[in-house]
Amino acid sequence: MMKVGQVHYRSLWADESSGVIHIIDQARLPHVFETATIASAEAMADAIRSMRVRGAPLIGVAAAFGIALAVARDPSDESISRASTLMRTTRPTAVNLAWAIGRMRERLATVKVSERLVAAWDEAQAIADEDVALNESIGRHGLAILEREYAARKRPVNILTHCNAGWIATVDWGTVTAPIFMAHERGIPIHVWVDETRPRNQGLLTAWELAGGGVPHTLVADNAGGHLMQRGMVDLVLVGADRVSRRGDVCNKIGTYLKAVAARANDIPFYAAVPTPTIDWGIEDALREIPIEERPEDELRVVRGLDAQGKFAEVLIASRATPVANPAFDVTPAEFVTGLITEKGYVRATEKDLLALWPRSRESKAYLT
Ligand code: MRU
Repeated sequence: MMKVGQVHYRSLWADESSGVIHIIDQARLPHVFETATIASAEAMADAIRSMRVRGAPLIGVAAAFGIALAVARDPSDESISRASTLMRTTRPTAVNLAWAIGRMRERLATVKVSERLVAAWDEAQAIADEDVALNESIGRHGLAILEREYAARKRPVNILTHCNAGWIATVDWGTVTAPIFMAHERGIPIHVWVDETRPRNQGLLTAWELAGGGVPHTLVADNAGGHLMQRGMVDLVLVGADRVSRRGDVCNKIGTYLKAVAARANDIPFYAAVPTPTIDWGIEDALREIPIEERPEDELRVVRGLDAQGKFAEVLIASRATPVANPAFDVTPAEFVTGLITEKGYVRATEKDLLALWPRSRESKAYLT
């Protein structure tokens, strides 16, 4: 379990006896560490939408618990259906959300109304616990890659990452940070270039996590990646994913595609860390079919941080009259992806290779978006 100071935390945990969920509130991180209590489906939907909880795996788990909170209030079919719609419409791109909601609905449909509350908590908790196991397994497979990179170089391995696919984007470990933490623990010298990731600056969260684990890292502006690659200062790119098509296209935080293109131009491997719930077997043409979330304009105009007095503050950096577009994700076509690091192992980003690892997914349908 990851530590903040001396205390072990998960990014979200349930208190079944009082019927509430606790979250690490990411709104003011890394400047202010605080937790919050979520007591209703509406409050959970709001936390997901406003990104107080964020990251594809974590929002799936949060939505599952959101449904459990709705069931606690009213276990009827209509209530579950209403809560599912509420959760599903919070954020459109990460498929983990629709996957977790679908799983909750399937489980609850098989249970008598009087037994739904217990079943809902159990299922949501199972999704959370499984997420930890998925990340740990991704960690072991990613570790093997980092070990090989080190053995080939005999000097610190330089990894570039974009956004935050760290432990607070999941329940624990993180998809990208699991192999990094494991390598660091085993004494493999690594250094991580952390993209700032405008406009929401999730790179600051990654830097905070790496600092917490004592992993050497350097924060860079998003635009620095190509330059670092040209100079031989990046050995591999490792990112998370919000949705992966059956062909291996990787949809992830806006700007990921540019890094993949630069990596290809410089002959640098580009990996995505992907747990099974992030794969959408129903998506054939990722560029056309994956809905790309358009976030509020003020995410570009307003930056957050500490003021001269050390108090959390927001500053307007662009005129409110300036037209703004804020697409939150992009698609990196499979041809730019060297491979996927999954909990089942490393796999090349092709439909044939993916179906060889997930043979039963041949007929799967798209998740509703
Ligand atoms: O908008 P966010 O911060 O939720 O986006 C997060 C990402 O893009 C992550 O890379 C992805 O969800 C994987 S997290 C393990």
